[in-house]
Amino acid sequence: MQRTLVLVKPDGVQRGLAGAILARLERRGLKLIGLKMMRINKDVAARHYAEHHGKPFYEGLIAFITSGPVVAMIWEGREAVSVVRSLMGATDPLKAAPGTIRGDLALDLGMNLIHGSDSAGRAETEIALFFQPSELHEYERTADRWIRE
Ligand code: RTP
Ligand code: MG
Repeated sequence: MQRTLVLVKPDGVQRGLAGAILARLERRGLKLIGLKMMRINKDVAARHYAEHHGKPFYEGLIAFITSGPVVAMIWEGREAVSVVRSLMGATDPLKAAPGTIRGDLALDLGMNLIHGSDSAGRAETEIALFFQPSELHEYERTADRWIRE
């Protein structure tokens, strides 16, 4: 089953939206297998956003993601990566569709509340960057027989 890394970014924690964001993913039927609050350090931030190194917004992005605690989560489910990306909405909240997390709850590109891995390969890398193997929980979820055909 596919897994993806999700972060409630520092703006989401500060605004008291961590629970609401988690609930949206949970209600969709995705399975939570890892969860923690953490402060991202500069080194992890640089590795996480390496693809953006050198871009004009890079320094601001690193300052923002390290500015306060985040809630890090691993979600599992069929096509979990694309399911989460569609629940998040477009990167720029002004372009995000109503009904999405960013489209309903955010206004600014630099304060867009949530991160989700953008490919299955990136998800594996990001999960390893943020979680120790012992922090992943494999368990039977009885509701799955009513979620998965
Ligand atoms: P994220 O990685 O944070 O989940 O967001 P994303 O995949 O939707 O967007 P990505 O292209 O990876 O960009 C990472 C974050 O950088 C900021 N950004 N600013 N000023 C700009 O043109 C610009 N482009 C991106 C956003 O905060 C975005 O979430
Ligand atoms: Mg991204």
